[in-house]
Amino acid sequence: MSKIILTGDRPTGRLHIGHYAGSLKRRVELQNSGEFDKIYIMIADAQALTDNIDTPEKVRQNVIEVALDYLSVGLDPEKSTLFIQSQISELTELTFYYMDLVTVSRLQRNPTVKNEIQMRNFEASIPVGFFTYPISQAADITFCKANIVPVGEDQLPMIEQTKEIVHKFNAVYAPENPVLVEPKAMLPQADACKRLPGTDGKAKMSKSLGNCIYLADSADEVKTKIMGMFTDPQHLKVSDPGHLEGNTVFTYLDAFARDEHFERYCPDYANLDEMKAHYTKGGLGDMKVKKFLNEIMQEELEPIRKRRAMFEKDIPEIYNILKKGSETARQVAAQTLSEVKHAMKIDYFEDLELIKEQSEKYASR
Ligand code: TRP
Repeated sequence: MSKIILTGDRPTGRLHIGHYAGSLKRRVELQNSGEFDKIYIMIADAQALTDNIDTPEKVRQNVIEVALDYLSVGLDPEKSTLFIQSQISELTELTFYYMDLVTVSRLQRNPTVKNEIQMRNFEASIPVGFFTYPISQAADITFCKANIVPVGEDQLPMIEQTKEIVHKFNAVYAPENPVLVEPKAMLPQADACKRLPGTDGKAKMSKSLGNCIYLADSADEVKTKIMGMFTDPQHLKVSDPGHLEGNTVFTYLDAFARDEHFERYCPDYANLDEMKAHYTKGGLGDMKVKKFLNEIMQEELEPIRKRRAMFEKDIPEIYNILKKGSETARQVAAQTLSEVKHAMKIDYFEDLELIKEQSEKYASR
């Protein structure tokens, strides 16, 4: 069976190093491994609108930001199809048909939806579009018959819901010849990458908290943010023993530091374990650890910044890439939609057998 990847992001802000550690870096590796037959990367603007109803301009602005972030980390339109969700009208048709296969109570039990309803104070009145976005996400995943969906843990309930829709669709409409493909989630490999905390130590990087390091930040901005990072509030003097738990600088090091970085930037230690041991014993100051982290992050982000600056010089070309990608995605979606309509017996004008069948039925009366 061919290996098809689909994943995407809501364009509600620029992408940060949490996205990078948790997903973007891996996507580029998967892309360059050559092991996959097709890779689709979607800018989920329609989904973003389900909970940003009042700010269409924000979504519009961030489509290009996210596209620039994609290209600057190394997603390559020659190898991956980059496209914009709203431009694939077939997705809304698929969504409409999948709605027949899902109950209200099942949606209410979706943990991600539950959580987001709370976060957005939607309890009293939930917009229908928002409430049903897991169904539209099933359309996103199935239009290209993706079987691998690289996502963060928070998206697991969406993949689960998609699997159920696929299962039910095939069971009801295509028991002999399954039309849709059940996807599998692919999670970040390292635990430290699953959820990078904000620079202030809060559980999540979020634009409103101002605790993100963005891929597009300048070298100075990155440095300032790292030097101001949350560490161990009890570690007052260098000689004090330090704590690693909840220590954001060490969480970032877990995600990004490799042994070769020590050789280059901090030869006092062979690896992160040695550095941690010294820190917990006492005698290693936060400043030194932060400077080390800064070296690593600059090394990681510099090529991304350079590529971004290059792509920023030709914005029309970025739209062109997205347009071409959207055209490709649309063709694929149209094919799947026609299979879906055939399975659902609503392909009246394509099914020549139908006209013959009905003619014969009436002829024999
Ligand atoms: N829900 C995802 C997020 O909030 C974005 C998304 C939309 C997505 N459709 C998708 C992710 C399909 C993977 C597959 O980040």
